[in-house]
Amino acid sequence: MTKIRIAVQKSGRLNEDSLKILKDCGISIDNGKDQLKATARNFPMEVLYLRNGDIPQYLRDGVVDIAILGENVLVEKGADITIAEKLNFSKCRVCLAVPKGVTYNSVQDLEGKRIATSYPNTVNDYLKSKGVNADLHIINGSVEIAPNIGLADGICDIVSSGSTLFKNNLKEVEVILKSEAVLAVSPKISEERKQILRKLRFRIKSVLQGRQ
Ligand code: PRP
Ligand code: MG
Repeated sequence: MTKIRIAVQKSGRLNEDSLKILKDCGISIDNGKDQLKATARNFPMEVLYLRNGDIPQYLRDGVVDIAILGENVLVEKGADITIAEKLNFSKCRVCLAVPKGVTYNSVQDLEGKRIATSYPNTVNDYLKSKGVNADLHIINGSVEIAPNIGLADGICDIVSSGSTLFKNNLKEVEVILKSEAVLAVSPKISEERKQILRKLRFRIKSVLQGRQ
C-alpha cells in the first residue's frame, strides 16, 4: 500500500507539537524519537525524524513528500517549497539584536557591522532591501553569545519568549519575519500521495478549527 512520507523535527521545539497534531488527527504512530523512522498504525503514513535544517533539501529531492517545520527554515533554505497549511503553533520571530548598551536608531546603524547568525540568506535579503552592507558570521547555535565574546556587533536569530536575548544582554531592534509551524509539500509528490495529503489536510483543518 502507498504511504505518504512525512518529515518531523527529530528533537527540538517543534517535535512535541508536531507529533501532537498528528495524534489529534487520529493518527497513531508507534513510538518515534529513538527510531529515526516510524509507521502509523491507522493511516498510510511513514514518519522520518530529521534535523530541521535538512528538511528543505529532503522536500526538494522528494525523499519526503511533506514535512512539519518552521516557516523560518523554509524562508532561509526552501523559498521554492510550497506551504499547504499554517499550523498555528511554534510561533516565533526572526530578529536582529544588538547589545543593550549600544545606541540604535535604525537599520542603517548596522552598516559595516559584524552580524552573527544561523539565517544568512534571510539577513542578507533583509539588509539588501534596506541598502545596508554588513559582514555576516554564520554560526549554527548559541548565536546570542557572539557579541559578548567579541565575535560580532549584533546577531540575527529566532526569538520566542525573549529570554535568551535577555540573558545575554541583548535588545531586539528589528523584526525581519514572523514565523510559525507549517505543513510543507515536496514539488515531487506523486498523484497517489496527493490523495493521502488531501485526507490529512482535511483532518488538520478540523483539528485547527477545534482548537480555536
Ligand atoms: C533557540 C534560538 C534562540 C532561542 C529563542 O535556540 O536559536 O536562541 O531559542 O528562544 P527564546 O526567545 O524563548 O529564548 P535553542 O535554545 O533552540 O538552541 P540553539 O541556538 O543552540 O539551537
Ligand atoms: Mg539559540
